[in-house]
Amino acid sequence: MARHGKVSVVGAGFYGSTTALRLAEYDIFETVVLTDVVEGKPEGLALDLNQSRWIEGFETKVVGQTTGPNGEGYEVIAGSEIVIITAGLPRKPGMSRMDLIETNAKIMRSVAENIAKHAPEAIVINVANPLDEMTALAQLVTGFPYQRVIGQAGMLDTARFTNFVAEDLGVPVASVKTLTLGSHGDTMVPVASACSVDGTPLADLMPADRIEELVVRTRNGGAEVVALLKTGSAYYAPSAAAARMAKAIHEDSGDVMPVCAWVDGEYGLSGAYLGVEAELGREGIRKVVETPLTDAEKALLVEAYEAVKAKQADVAGL
Ligand code: LAC
Repeated sequence: MARHGKVSVVGAGFYGSTTALRLAEYDIFETVVLTDVVEGKPEGLALDLNQSRWIEGFETKVVGQTTGPNGEGYEVIAGSEIVIITAGLPRKPGMSRMDLIETNAKIMRSVAENIAKHAPEAIVINVANPLDEMTALAQLVTGFPYQRVIGQAGMLDTARFTNFVAEDLGVPVASVKTLTLGSHGDTMVPVASACSVDGTPLADLMPADRIEELVVRTRNGGAEVVALLKTGSAYYAPSAAAARMAKAIHEDSGDVMPVCAWVDGEYGLSGAYLGVEAELGREGIRKVVETPLTDAEKALLVEAYEAVKAKQADVAGL
C-alpha cells in the first residue's frame, strides 16, 4: 500500500518520541506529527528523526510542533487519521498509576479539547495513566463515538507476559502466545488459559505456581521498570504497542488485539472502558471479541470491570 495519511503523537517525552520513531520507520504514513509543550523539543526531535531517514530507508516526514497553553500550534494535527495521546506525567518509583490521576486529567482535558477542535474525525489512542480512566476522560471530553477512542495497555501487558514466558522456558517469543485483559493496574487479568507455546497449553509446560509468579510479575511489569529507571517509566515496549495499534487502524487490517475498549454487553458487562480483545480497523474498534475464559478468569474480569467502572464514574469531575 502506498504511503499515505497523517498520524499525530501528542507529547514528545520518551514514550511519544519512540512512538513517532516507530511510526516513521514503518514508512506507511506520509506524515508523522510530534507535538509537545516544551518549546523546541518536538521540532528538534523531528529534525533529528528526519535526518535518520536516509540511513534507515524511510520517506515518511516527521513534523515537530510546540503547542501553547491556549492550544496554539494544534492546527498541525488537522486532518490526522489517528492521534496518539502520550502527554502526561509518568510514575516515579513507588507511585501507582492512580497517583497520577489529577495532574494527568488536567493535561488530558486540554489535549482532548484540542483534538476535538482540530482533528474531529481522528481515531484517538490514549496511553496516559491511569490508563482506563484517562481513556474514559478522552472520550468524554472529545465527545467522539466510543469506537473511536481506544486505550493502549493490553498489547503491552501481553507482550510483557509473553517475554517472561519465553525467557522462562528458553523458547523464542514468536512461539509463545499469551493474553492479558482487565485493567492496566492492580486488576489486570493475565489469562493463563489462553497461553500456549507452539500450540501446547502453558499449563502442560510449567507448574501452576510458576505460571502464577509470571502472572504477578506481569501485573507489576510497569512498576518493575520504573523502579530500575528511577526517573520516568517504560517506553520501548509501550511505544511498540501503541504504534502497532495505529498501524492496524491505518491499514484497516482487522487484527484482533488486547486493548482498552468500551464494553457494551460483551461478557455481560456494559458502560465502561475495560481491557478486552478487539478487532481494529479504519473506524477504530470494529468489534469487541469475547475470549473464552475459565470461571475464575471471568470472575477476575468482572472484578476489574467493577473497579474501573467505579473510577470512571468519577472522571467527569476531574
Ligand atoms: C507501563 C506504563 C507505561 O506499564 O503504564 O510501563
